[in-house]
Amino acid sequence: MRVLTLLQVLPLSLALAGNSGPSGHHGPSCKASPDGDDWPSPSQWAALSKSVDGRLFVPTPPGAVCHPGERSYDPERCVVVQSEWIAWGFHEQDAVSTAINNFNNDTCLPEPDYPCSPGGYPRLVVNATQVEHVKRAVEFAKKHSLRLNIKATGHDFLGRSNAPNSLSIWTHHMKGMEFHDSFKPKGCRTSIDTTAISAEAGSQMYELYTALDARGQTLVGGGGKTVGIGGYVTGGGHSILSGKHGLAADNVLEVEMVTPEGKFLIANECQNEDLFWAVRGGGGSTFGVLTSITMHTFPTPTMPNLIFAAILPLGDPQLVDLWAYGLSHLPHLVSSGVYGYMYLLPAFPLPGSVGDETTDTVVSGFYFTGLMPGQPDVSTFDTVMAPLMAEMNTKFESLTLASYTVMYDNFLDWYNLNHDQSTTGEDMYLGSRLFDEKSLTADEDALREMLEKVVAPYPSGSLAHFIGGEGVWNAEPRGGSNAVLPAWRNIVSHQTVNAKFPPLNVTAEQEARRIIETRVSYLRELTPDTGSYVNEAYVYEPDFQHAFWGNNYDRLLAIKRRIDPLDVLWCHPCVGNERWEEVGGKLCKV
Ligand SMILES: Cc1cc2nc3c(=O)[nH]c(=O)nc-3n(C[C@H](O)[C@H](O)[C@H](O)COP(=O)(O)OP(=O)(O)OC[C@H]3O[C@@H](n4cnc5c(N)ncnc54)[C@H](O)[C@@H]3O)c2cc1C
Ligand SMILES: *[C@@H]1O[C@H](CO)[C@@H](O)[C@H](O)[C@H]1NC(C)=O
Ligand SMILES: *[C@@H]1O[C@H](CO)[C@@H](O)[C@H](O)[C@H]1NC(C)=O
Ligand SMILES: *[C@@H]1O[C@H](CO)[C@@H](O)[C@H](O)[C@H]1NC(C)=O
Repeated sequence: MRVLTLLQVLPLSLALAGNSGPSGHHGPSCKASPDGDDWPSPSQWAALSKSVDGRLFVPTPPGAVCHPGERSYDPERCVVVQSEWIAWGFHEQDAVSTAINNFNNDTCLPEPDYPCSPGGYPRLVVNATQVEHVKRAVEFAKKHSLRLNIKATGHDFLGRSNAPNSLSIWTHHMKGMEFHDSFKPKGCRTSIDTTAISAEAGSQMYELYTALDARGQTLVGGGGKTVGIGGYVTGGGHSILSGKHGLAADNVLEVEMVTPEGKFLIANECQNEDLFWAVRGGGGSTFGVLTSITMHTFPTPTMPNLIFAAILPLGDPQLVDLWAYGLSHLPHLVSSGVYGYMYLLPAFPLPGSVGDETTDTVVSGFYFTGLMPGQPDVSTFDTVMAPLMAEMNTKFESLTLASYTVMYDNFLDWYNLNHDQSTTGEDMYLGSRLFDEKSLTADEDALREMLEKVVAPYPSGSLAHFIGGEGVWNAEPRGGSNAVLPAWRNIVSHQTVNAKFPPLNVTAEQEARRIIETRVSYLRELTPDTGSYVNEAYVYEPDFQHAFWGNNYDRLLAIKRRIDPLDVLWCHPCVGNERWEEVGGKLCKV
């Protein structure tokens, strides 16, 4: 029955393509492609389908509903898809959708005037709900030398959860959580005296926060409600709570995973220690498919919140000086226990909430939202901010300062109103650089010069996540260390820039690349000793190996070569990807 169902849904071209026997014997120079004779035969696909309980299917690009002539064409549904396209949550619910269009090569946007083909998306998807499904899919990809993809939410800013002509493992429906009052890593003799949560691979931030809140707890998690635990934790994972509790990767107690050989194993401080080290910061879809992650949890903190704006009239000559002032005082903020997000903007509408009636006035300057997790009330902000405000008022002639405070009793109360509300569904590149105290304070002229070049010319400005602090600097990851960029241990702030561009316009895309490359190069000049945050970085970051992992790279590469000698898992920019390159829609040996 299941076999027939699969064959019925396979498009004719696919069902007819390729009918070679088992292909273990060839040493392919490219991963199998649907139009080659190394592509598995229909009966081989049917066998895979059977082994995964019929959960294999040929995906339809989500934008196809807008294209007359496509099988899924549905003008009513198209209107819905068009309006939901900007929501991260839309792309998370689709088996293959990527939140950022250029990572499917704009191949089927929800606009009838653009072309639509499945070319930029995986060919087949396993809708996994169990470890066994993941194992079977990995084994099949290995045996047939298929390009293998792992998608949880498709949120990735570097496109690492999509691959053309691949078999994709969709982990979104691997839900399930277990709560622990203390946790004994399997194979260890003693328990770790902490509360903890074990969450399956499809778990997302808001699910984790709400489930833990019901127990009076929370964890180190991300700003977006739909961000998935797999990509977030494997990249390191920063949080508004990191300044106190470290990175997400610092909070992991154990992982369960399927290796690129298709073997299920448990990694923690007592077994598979190398893998345990590598998956905590070494990146997603590289060392295996994580099926469950166990993390330290802690009592939910009080969240005193300060919203603060430093405003100058448009065109004020002191704007760059004001930004420099803001950035150079981030070390003061984080060492006082204030963590948050600072927006540096050449022009922004004066926020109505700041307490002014003239809400449509456009101004310039910076604003931030700052938290002091665990403090009993908002009065502590006065102590931290008063000297700064006095100094700013004397330094900047036309300055307006505006601020207000709100007290939240717990993390979830704050998060419900203040989670990341950004939109997506566009073509975009991101750039990242990490700033330590020295780079923010040692050379004021250099800081100003950077701001002139990196922030002033661009309406989207720059975002400084000031999430470093004691928790990150003095983190004690289980087993002694993990694979996050060592520079994180001195970091005050993670600064991002972005460039958006219209789809299917090569000139505009190249312009966006040049803009990000230029801006990141100036950020890099000021921070030669740090690096970039892998999960929010530029996909074509030069020497990404060292920008993302510093001198952890050699050990990561050695582990990758040992666990995945055949490069069953490959992505860009990921550890150990040097032996293959993308040629059009194919992945071939260098
Ligand atoms: C709105 C928003 C807010 C964000 N806020 C933060 C933040 O506060 N802090 C922060 O650090 N980052 C933040 N991020 C960035 C986030 O960490 C990355 O987008 C991350 O890639 C998301 O992981 P994912 O699993 O949801 O995404 P996906 O795109 O599905 O996957 C990302 C990568 O992880 C791999 N992967 C996913 N699951 C697994 C698994 N089970 N096993 C192995 N590999 C896997 C994928 O193959 C891919 O390589 C935010 C992103 C968004 C969109
Ligand atoms: C994937 O599996 C889930 C859980 O069984 C199911 O609800 C969903 O409809 C499936 N999606 C697709 C596209 O097969
Ligand atoms: C493509 O982008 C370039 C650069 O932004 C722009 O000048 C050009 O008009 C665009 N082309 C089309 C067809 O929109
Ligand atoms: C992306 O699409 C363009 C056509 O718009 C094509 O020339 C190019 O080869 C595609 N890239 C990949 C990686 O498939």
